[in-house]
Amino acid sequence: MTNISAVDYADVQGIIRFGYARLTEASFLLLRIRDAAAARAWLATAPISTAVALTQAPATALQIAFTREGLEALKIADEVMAGFSAEFLSGMAGDDNRSRRLGDVGTNSPESWKWGGPGYVPHLVVMLYAQEGRLDSWAQTVKASDWDTAFEVLDSLPTSNLDGIEPFGFTDGISQPTIDWKREREIHGDQLEYGNVVALGEFLLGYPNEYGKYTDRPLLDETDAASSILPEAEDVPEKRDLGRNGSYLVFRQLQQDVSGFWRFINQQAQSNPQERQKLAASMVGRTQEGTPLVPICDAPIPGVNTREAPMNQFTYDADQSGARCAFGAHVRRANPRNADLPRGSNGLISRLLRTLGFGTKGYRDDVIASTRFHRLLRRGREYGPGLSPEDAIEMTGPDTSQHGIHFVCLNANISRQFEFLQGSWLMSTKFDGLTEESDSLLGNRQSISGCLRTDTFSLAGATGVRGRMVGLPQFVTVRGGAYFFLPGIRALKYLAADRG
Ligand code: HEM
Repeated sequence: MTNISAVDYADVQGIIRFGYARLTEASFLLLRIRDAAAARAWLATAPISTAVALTQAPATALQIAFTREGLEALKIADEVMAGFSAEFLSGMAGDDNRSRRLGDVGTNSPESWKWGGPGYVPHLVVMLYAQEGRLDSWAQTVKASDWDTAFEVLDSLPTSNLDGIEPFGFTDGISQPTIDWKREREIHGDQLEYGNVVALGEFLLGYPNEYGKYTDRPLLDETDAASSILPEAEDVPEKRDLGRNGSYLVFRQLQQDVSGFWRFINQQAQSNPQERQKLAASMVGRTQEGTPLVPICDAPIPGVNTREAPMNQFTYDADQSGARCAFGAHVRRANPRNADLPRGSNGLISRLLRTLGFGTKGYRDDVIASTRFHRLLRRGREYGPGLSPEDAIEMTGPDTSQHGIHFVCLNANISRQFEFLQGSWLMSTKFDGLTEESDSLLGNRQSISGCLRTDTFSLAGATGVRGRMVGLPQFVTVRGGAYFFLPGIRALKYLAADRG
């Protein structure tokens, strides 16, 4: 019998529960292990922040995650490594097919990345967060005695505080899944309405996911002496669970051409400021202030806190023809807010017909689009100086400052969550019946086999008269990336155990 237990927050890294929004300064250190013994000694005592809620908000936080190369540098046994997911072991840039699916071709290709490409894969990322003015001293505290012996800094990624606005100028971080921390969600059969509550096991390894199953992760025999520190696997009690309370962290450095974005839109809008705002909102799927382009629902959506996130209280049910929000708008691609079956009544025959694909034609037809299996917990930070649309448009020469997002997301299954979302929704040229276009913001505009042009964007319009923009330049370029394992606190102690 499965032993259902409450989540031990002290064993979970804080970033899974908190976004550390009040810690407005952050920097991400990409490290390679120089000396395994010194690295283990540092890791064993590193002051990692946990998911325990404190009575007073913390002034600083520290989080740590490892790539496959990092775990190998710590000499984790091959049989333990084999328990990690195939995509984590292969790495974000480890396979040409993966790169193609993720859109990492052309100027996005790993060969041209600053880090994460061949020969530049970090072993670990150390994520530092602090209240304003405290980051430098926090970094000094963290880099205790063994640090220099232990690590070599491959890159140090600064961030900037743009007050919750991403570099193109849109409010970000509005929509997040509500994690079922209390494990109250009961999943029986198909879900017929879109909801925002997502099973804990979609984000934390060692708990049931949206299929009611435990995602694969390394389970260790008790004969492994160091494993006694690990929790028991809930589903296989005779094994120790290295994954429990951990997650996979996807990191991508996405550089944004802010000037190019606004100059292109301004030109399309023939320098009309209202039209410019409308076009930009149409590409994102929200206005710059974050208002969705479809009406707020009257009926509550389970898991949406209407007081804290009123602008998240919507689905695309009221806009099945894409008249208000373009099908290809970034937020609609990133979360089409679908249930498991196309719309229809709850009657048995209606459900059977829809399951067999005979339902009404509409955006819900694509049964694989059940969004509950493809949610991400986003924890990114911006970098570079802010630049207003007006200043961006005025710019005549190239913008030499670097702007972008250090895109960070957490998920228990990289392939079903991040990779599906990135490859099948954002980068797909066939998403929702569209052709010749991929994500309005992120598309790499490269030709692919069977689709010579991907640089268009179909606008929302009740009668279709607003048509299509063509010749979209590439606005976002990938500058680095890697897949990391973010261990629970006991798992980190296991990884830091002496292995000679
Ligand atoms: C430079 C790159 C990007 C920019 C400028 C950007 C911008 C935005 C903005 C403005 C929003 C609306 C605010 C919100 O709902 O929280 C948003 C939402 C979202 N983005 Fe992105 N984004 C970027 C990259 C990505 C990537 C790489 C992914 C995933 C692979 C992604 C996934 C999402 C998701 C899941 C949402 C929430 C959609 C919803 O639930 O309605 N974004 N993004």
